Amino acid sequence: MMREKTYALLAQNPGRFVSGEAISTALGISRAAVLKHIHLFQKDGAEIVSVNNKGHMLKNYADRLKPEYITPLSDMLPVEIIWRESVGSTNNEAKTLAVNGAPHFTCVTAEEQTGGKGRMGRVWVSPIHKGVYFSLLLRPPVSAEQAMGITVLAALAVCSTLRKTGLNAAIKWPNDILVHGRKICGILTEISANMDGVEYVVCGIGINANLDKDDLTEALSKIATSVLIETGQVTQRTKLLADVLKAFSYYYETFMQSGLKDLIGEYTAFSALHGKTVTLISPGTQETGLFRGFDEQAALLVEADGQIKRYIAGEISLKGF
Ligand code: BTN
Repeated sequence: MMREKTYALLAQNPGRFVSGEAISTALGISRAAVLKHIHLFQKDGAEIVSVNNKGHMLKNYADRLKPEYITPLSDMLPVEIIWRESVGSTNNEAKTLAVNGAPHFTCVTAEEQTGGKGRMGRVWVSPIHKGVYFSLLLRPPVSAEQAMGITVLAALAVCSTLRKTGLNAAIKWPNDILVHGRKICGILTEISANMDGVEYVVCGIGINANLDKDDLTEALSKIATSVLIETGQVTQRTKLLADVLKAFSYYYETFMQSGLKDLIGEYTAFSALHGKTVTLISPGTQETGLFRGFDEQAALLVEADGQIKRYIAGEISLKGF
């Protein structure tokens, strides 16, 4: 907590010296404790200039997905952030926390995943300090069917955040975010339900922030991209995560008030499928048709043989991509 507040005092005064004494008085901690925190920030990559009789100036942020670096960027998030340097999968970590009683809106972040999971048993490439890997543990008072809507909220949150940075991001139903036809973010939602309804939902989000071409295999680089590859610029992962969390909590509130119906307009506007012929792939079958939008549950509507068909789940491949 004090570490968080120390960082916040530096971050709130960009380009200015904040004296060790001022921090120690403001927070009621010793000067030695202030220095200890500052050394930890430096170890996390923060550039901090310390000058005798002047104090400490934050010149460059620490870009670790730790709560002390994220909370100063995101006012009033209802989220508890749990950071891990390295995990198998943040989704699995969040599930363990859930079983042990962790509260609604716990967010597990990691610098790397050694067993990052994608849909359909695929691997999610998760090199250290490059991507934004996190899982939200939610306990929504809804049915298992309605809880599928959490994926919609996550897609909206990531897509709207990336669009605000100027990227031409689009949602490929149900849970991919694309830029220029390549995947920049994937979402893996896992639900635990019993007879009384949903016990918990773990919504895992992986955003390719600072992966470069060398982080992707040749095959992957044909279908995946990153913010760095698209913009040529290193992105502040902490800021990206803070902005996505803020957007997510906004969409989540809307969802709790009125379900998905007020969000489908935006979801449709963000869709990568306009004017496309889509092929829906499900185990053993394949169906092709024209994209016709979404219904109020975000089910995909596809026209084939003059009929509109509705799909609540699945995976699609796009012609012309
Ligand atoms: C997909 O596109 O197939 C879904 C990818 C989901 C990746 C994220 S990264 C954080 C979280 N932990 C995981 O193991 N997977 C999700």
